[in-house]
Amino acid sequence: MAKSIQMNELTLGVCYYPEHWPEELWEDDFRRMREMNISVIRMAEFAWAMLEPEEGRFDFRFFRRVMDLAHQYGLKVILGTPTATPPAWLTHKYPEVLNANVEGVLYRHGMRRHYNYSSPKYRELCARIVRNMVEAYKEHPSVIGWQIDNELNCETNEFYSEADHIAFRAWLQERYGSLNNLNHAWGTVFWSQTYTDWEQVYLTRPMVNHSPNPHLALDEKRFISANTFSFAKIQADIIRELSPQHWVTTNGTFGHLDNHELTDELLDFFSYDSYPQFSTIFPSSDENPLGDRAWSMNLSNVRSMSPNFCIMEQQAGPGGWVDRIEMGSPRPGQIRLWSYQSVLHGTDLLVYFRWRTATFGTEIYWHGINDYHNRPNRRVREVAQVGEEFAKIGSFIAGTAYQAEVAIMQDYDNVWDGELDKWHGPLQRQSVRSWYKQLQYQHIPTDLITLGTKTKLEALLQYKVIVYPHPAIMTDETATLMTQYVEHGGKLVFGARTGYKDTYGQCYMQPFPGPVAGLCGITVEDFTLIKGTIGASELHWEGSRLPSGTKAVGFNEVLSVESPDVEVVAAYATEYYKGQPALTRRAVGQGKVWYYGAAFSEPVVDALIDEMELTSPAADWLDAPAEVEVGIRSANGSSFLFVLNYSGEQVTLTLKKSTVDLLTGAELDGTIEMPAYGVMVMKILTP
Ligand code: GLA
Repeated sequence: MAKSIQMNELTLGVCYYPEHWPEELWEDDFRRMREMNISVIRMAEFAWAMLEPEEGRFDFRFFRRVMDLAHQYGLKVILGTPTATPPAWLTHKYPEVLNANVEGVLYRHGMRRHYNYSSPKYRELCARIVRNMVEAYKEHPSVIGWQIDNELNCETNEFYSEADHIAFRAWLQERYGSLNNLNHAWGTVFWSQTYTDWEQVYLTRPMVNHSPNPHLALDEKRFISANTFSFAKIQADIIRELSPQHWVTTNGTFGHLDNHELTDELLDFFSYDSYPQFSTIFPSSDENPLGDRAWSMNLSNVRSMSPNFCIMEQQAGPGGWVDRIEMGSPRPGQIRLWSYQSVLHGTDLLVYFRWRTATFGTEIYWHGINDYHNRPNRRVREVAQVGEEFAKIGSFIAGTAYQAEVAIMQDYDNVWDGELDKWHGPLQRQSVRSWYKQLQYQHIPTDLITLGTKTKLEALLQYKVIVYPHPAIMTDETATLMTQYVEHGGKLVFGARTGYKDTYGQCYMQPFPGPVAGLCGITVEDFTLIKGTIGASELHWEGSRLPSGTKAVGFNEVLSVESPDVEVVAAYATEYYKGQPALTRRAVGQGKVWYYGAAFSEPVVDALIDEMELTSPAADWLDAPAEVEVGIRSANGSSFLFVLNYSGEQVTLTLKKSTVDLLTGAELDGTIEMPAYGVMVMKILTP
């Protein structure tokens, strides 16, 4: 069941680090926050050395003073548990708590997240600081909730300390019961990797060519996820025991962690840290990149854990570390635009990072709302504008949820297996990006969902279309669920490399696509990676809008029709498999299933959008250029249409029905000019 934050109105907050500032500044800071309609602060998540300056000596006075003052100013407080930054006394005395790189070299004090989750000593010391902290602050009237740790698995999501190897063995013993089972699951007879004693089993260590056993590598990621979960659970259990009146969350979506399970089992809702500019600072091979708008895909993933969520850190200026991460300044309007990007996708509590830029430490260039000098600047004015607007529209929008009829589906096993496996991982990244992008450009709102063992048919049936691009690992249970989805009227799309691996990542001795070959009514007769000897074949797709010469990228599977009711939609037009089926369609029950033997490129996605007769739900309301994102939040018969202009140019919208821009109160009808980085929120009627 999806777990959402419960807010009555859109609420603004800010990350505040009182330990970075002279105490004389606090009061002025809090007064100015309230003037900007900021009513929540998050703090203390890195303050272990202040809360427990020596082993076993706790001091909670400093933050209590801050909280007393915050309370006077009507500010609510989110407290972070400080376990992402163990103090120097701790790691010095107990070096076994440190994480290590794959060579076994320990990460030392001086940065953050340099600990492992496995050391019994670290777990004990974390439990103790959390217990003492919650006891100290649970009655304080300003506290509304707790953030566990900070960004679990950020900085690194690999763990190779002694304690981790030991914990991995215990996890494997539980999972496999015997070494014999483990040897089978990992196919260790290959290259004489057979284990004869549990002590011989390790997480990845330095290997020739850095090539670990692939089945071990998959289990390693599952183990890291389970271990991170059990580390977080210690804290969640303590907070729930001592402070049941407060909510519990954690922030960030980082690798090797099943955040869906974490949310379902431990949290009240998920929180995310949104820095859209990250998607613009790395070179992209895309001709038509989504840029900062690509961040909407990350937010769509967060929504699949919590339809309404908290942004625990929203970008409030250029980001930068002293030694890495270099960003230009957000242009005027972009901080506000990105704030509404988060709101559109479901945030109801939006906390900026951070109030003021730090004057010392690694993050002196990670800009907060305020500059070092503390005078009003354009970022302060922009956030104040968002504050004013939230006051106007916040009570209508809170609790409404993003609406989508299309879902792109993934699952953790395939994502993790695909990190190592070059024969399907890269296809997944290419295809998900193409689908999300083209659906965005055509204003078709899309969810990014994660299939898990607990996913029910009803949850899938809310979507007209599900694209499950390259599920290499496919169990019989998943195949049954997919079949039921189609039989009940769903439209399902698979791409190349579907269904050839089992749950250990071993290959089935069956024709591809294994467990869903029957559903799709095809098998794969021949196949090639597009590399070296083979260039991607062109596609022949009669009656589609595919530009001539469009290629089937990434991988080419030559399909063989096995069932008379299968229709060949497109064929390969070049290469030695010229004329053979590339894309098929089959009606099953009330639905349809498509199988495409390649990775999805943008033109192919566009043609498939037509083929599946997908249209924008906003089409009755407006015509908008591809530069803008269009989405709808609804609940209980109220619907709000968001239009976000990511481009640096003014754009023209044509409204087909008259309505009102809730942010300005302006009547909207006919042709509207929308400024660069502009935002509009309109109340609309939906059927
Ligand atoms: C992350 C962390 C913050 C801060 C920002 C900027 O989101 O949670 O503590 O470090 O990045 O780097």
